[in-house]
Amino acid sequence: MSVSSKGAEATITAAEFLRRPAVEKSRPPKSYRLPELDAHIRSVRTRNEVRMMREARHAGVRTPCVYDLDVSRCSITMELVPGVVAKDVISAGGDEALRVAAEIGRAAARLHSAGLCHGDLTTSNVIVRPDGEICLIDFSMGRSNATMEDIGVDLRLLENAFASSHAGMDDVREAMMSAYFEGVPDPDAVRRKLEDIRNRGRYT
Ligand SMILES: Nc1ncnc2c1ncn2[C@@H]1O[C@H](COP(=O)(O)OP(=O)(O)O)[C@@H](O)[C@H]1O
Ligand SMILES: [Mg+2]
Repeated sequence: MSVSSKGAEATITAAEFLRRPAVEKSRPPKSYRLPELDAHIRSVRTRNEVRMMREARHAGVRTPCVYDLDVSRCSITMELVPGVVAKDVISAGGDEALRVAAEIGRAAARLHSAGLCHGDLTTSNVIVRPDGEICLIDFSMGRSNATMEDIGVDLRLLENAFASSHAGMDDVREAMMSAYFEGVPDPDAVRRKLEDIRNRGRYT
């Protein structure tokens, strides 16, 4: 498993916490932003990520346990979740791809039913543990008190992620979507919103 990825914004490094395998996700300063604004963005995203991971867990969605938070460095030390990203599992196809896709749909439904949106729902932000359980990560753009618009946009992102990373795998996208709609209290309202967002994308 790769734990030294350098995204656009955060740095992930392997770490240890009380002798437990951990990862440190830190947000180093970005010189292209005004310093005050930069400090604000990094701090808001870091605190938001910790809060959202906790709220998601309370909604029944597995997320890494947070071991430590360094507000001044904008760094989170969390449980290292063993496994592989869902993107790779799904790309490999087969029954496991269908199962993981459905699990992702169910997890998204749990989040949305609790009024939470993830903000960056892609198959790269889901880890499939060796025991098969899925764990959602990368919540810095998430929010609670999500509106129907937030929920629709979240689902649209997920649908797009399946369409682009897993092009041609219509059955896995369907497995994800049907598990999702089975898990939300008002599937028709979300369907209408999703259609609305798809149409907007088409005509703007
Ligand atoms: N707690 C964790 N356990 C194991 N791997 C992790 C963990 N957090 C992040 N990763 C790995 O690092 C990658 C990037 O982390 P992520 O939180 O998604 O940040 P980014 O904003 O860079 O996408 C993930 O796709 C995953 O492979
Ligand atoms: Mg990510």
